[in-house]
Amino acid sequence: MQVIIADSAQEVARLGADQLSRLLRTTPEAVLGLATGNTPIALYEELIRRYRQGELSFARAQSFNLDEYVGLAPEHPQSYRYFMNRYLFSQIDIPLARTWVPDGMADPASAGEVYESLIEAAGGIDLQVLGIGRNGHIGFNEPSSSLGSRTRIKTLAPQTLADNSRFFAVDEFQPSLAITMGIGTILRSRKALLLATGDAKADAVHAMVEGPVTASCPASALQLHPCAVVIVDRAAGARLQHGEYYQRVRQQTDQLSSRD
Ligand code: GLP
Repeated sequence: MQVIIADSAQEVARLGADQLSRLLRTTPEAVLGLATGNTPIALYEELIRRYRQGELSFARAQSFNLDEYVGLAPEHPQSYRYFMNRYLFSQIDIPLARTWVPDGMADPASAGEVYESLIEAAGGIDLQVLGIGRNGHIGFNEPSSSLGSRTRIKTLAPQTLADNSRFFAVDEFQPSLAITMGIGTILRSRKALLLATGDAKADAVHAMVEGPVTASCPASALQLHPCAVVIVDRAAGARLQHGEYYQRVRQQTDQLSSRD
C-alpha cells in the first residue's frame, strides 16, 4: 500500500485527481471504477475543473460504480445513479451510455452476475476509486463480507444505516439492502485509490492500513491489492503509527518520478 498523508481535504482531492488525470492521459479509453459518498465530491469537482480547463477528457472512457441501493430507481434523488449524474457525469464529456451503476431495480438473483459480466466485457477496471465507511466498509461490503466476494446483494449494517440516514427525510423509505461490487471484484481492479478525510475515519483508516487483514475491516483487504494507493488528510490519518515513514516514502517517490 502506498499511504499519502495530505495536508488538507483539498489536497486529497487534488492528489486523487492527479491519479485519474495521469491514467486518462496515457489511456484515454480507461475503465474507471467510481464511488459515491461525501468524500469523492471534492475529487469530482477537481476533475470537472480540469475538464473545463481542457486538461482532461473522458470522451473515450467508461465507468463502473461500486454500488446502488436496492429498491431505488435511477431517478430517485437518493439513488447512487442520480448522485453520479448530478455530481459528475452531467458536467463532463463521458457518454452517459458508457457509465454503469448497478441496477437497484433488477432481479436480485441475477443482478450481481450481470454486473460482473459487464465489467469483464469492458476488460476489467483500470482504477477503482473508493471511500471508506466508519466501520471499515468499502462499497457496501460490511464487516464479515467474504474477502473473495463478487457483486451481490448485501444487508447494510446498523452503523451504515445510521450514517446514511442524514440523506433521507424522516418519513422517507431508506433501503436496508444494497447491491455492491464484492471485495474480490475490487481486488481485481488494476489500481485501487482509497480517499478518506475527517477524524470520523481515523480508526477505520488505522485498521485498514496497520491492522490485520480481516473481514471485520473489509478495507484491510486492500493490503492484498497489488497496487493500492491510500490518500488521507491529517485528520483521517491521525491514528496511523508510521506517519513519518509514509512521508519519507512520498518524498522519495516524488523525487524518483521527477527524474522521468
Ligand atoms: C457509503 C458508500 C461507500 C462510501 C461510504 C462513506 O456507504 N457505499 O462507498 O465510501 O458511504 O461515505 P462518505 O464519504 O460520505 O463518508
